[in-house]
Amino acid sequence: MLRRTFITSTSAGLAALGLGPPFGSWRLRGQGGLQSRAAARGLFFGCSLRTGLLEQDQAFAQAVFAECGLIVPETAFKWDHLRPSEGQFDFSQADRFVDVARTHGLKIRGHALVWYRALPPWLGGQFGGARAATLLQQHITTTVARYRGKMESWDVVNEAIDPSATRSHRPDGLSASLWLDQVGPGYIADAFHAAREADPDVLLVYNDNHMEYDTSYFDRKRAMVLDLLRKLKDQGAPVGALGMQSHMDAAETRFNPTKYRQFLADVASLGLKIILSEVDVSDEKVAGPAPVRDQAVASAYSALLSTALDERSVIGVITWGLSDRYTWLTKDHTRTDRQPIRPLPLDDAMHPKLAYDAIGGAFDAAPVRV
Ligand code: XIL
Repeated sequence: MLRRTFITSTSAGLAALGLGPPFGSWRLRGQGGLQSRAAARGLFFGCSLRTGLLEQDQAFAQAVFAECGLIVPETAFKWDHLRPSEGQFDFSQADRFVDVARTHGLKIRGHALVWYRALPPWLGGQFGGARAATLLQQHITTTVARYRGKMESWDVVNEAIDPSATRSHRPDGLSASLWLDQVGPGYIADAFHAAREADPDVLLVYNDNHMEYDTSYFDRKRAMVLDLLRKLKDQGAPVGALGMQSHMDAAETRFNPTKYRQFLADVASLGLKIILSEVDVSDEKVAGPAPVRDQAVASAYSALLSTALDERSVIGVITWGLSDRYTWLTKDHTRTDRQPIRPLPLDDAMHPKLAYDAIGGAFDAAPVRV
């Protein structure tokens, strides 16, 4: 079992960071894991993890079982893992993940059926037109049908929009990808229809990044995502939710709760649910020792979640990883002082950090979903 540490913030430390209430002080306000605290409000909490970790690392596995109601594999469902060649599927990792999750009563989210990244090398060739469309359709049908009835949701399309001129030349922001190039802009709606045919009940999600901050880039991104979702709904595509990745930066000050909250309301007004699908807060750019950085990270979690959970269409929160022992950010987010980064709710020894309290506190304060 995890031993919970009671942590209170020092007001001096917070003042030094320019942080104050309502985002600056936390204490453990509930008992039990984050999933229990989320569930008490009709929400869920989960995390992503690499396949195999639940079997390889007992301390980590115990933390996942204590804290989470749902898990997402970080790579097992991506094309480069599922598709060794055009004619073959390899479901070995994905099957194992699903079996382990179900054995432990955890719900599962599938990520991601269509993405411009994580494609196998053989897919780089000249597909084109009907062949690419058929390949995509068969991929979705086979994969979703295999896990029919076992998944809580699928990320059907991931990161299709990018407002930057280097990634898109289109007014709608659809960005360069094999699927856009070879199938055309209809690939998104087609993907949702194929997924729905293969599983009539699973929640189908459009998942994307960069929608949190108050900058012109994020403004454009929010507007383009909203347009895409509106078009999909108008066309009758079976999209059920927006996944907002929410990879945050603890040094970033441009979080505007009013603007962010309005965006959530706009998405909800389309009849869509919202999942905060890949939350983490990088402390790469925050100077200082771990306790100071932990304050900044917790502050960002608190600001994001207390605003997001106010919107009743938000149904759950997933952190991208659970413990700092395993975070995808280690690869590219190297601190100048070479200290390991601390972006997740548990530290590398599985002890709860201030971020944990910030997340738990946001759940405790959230309006109850009915
Ligand atoms: C990341 C995984 O966590 C890494 O293990 C992998 O090497 C690269 O992809 N947005 C997404 C996720 O939608 O699929 C990415 O996951 C993180 C960013």
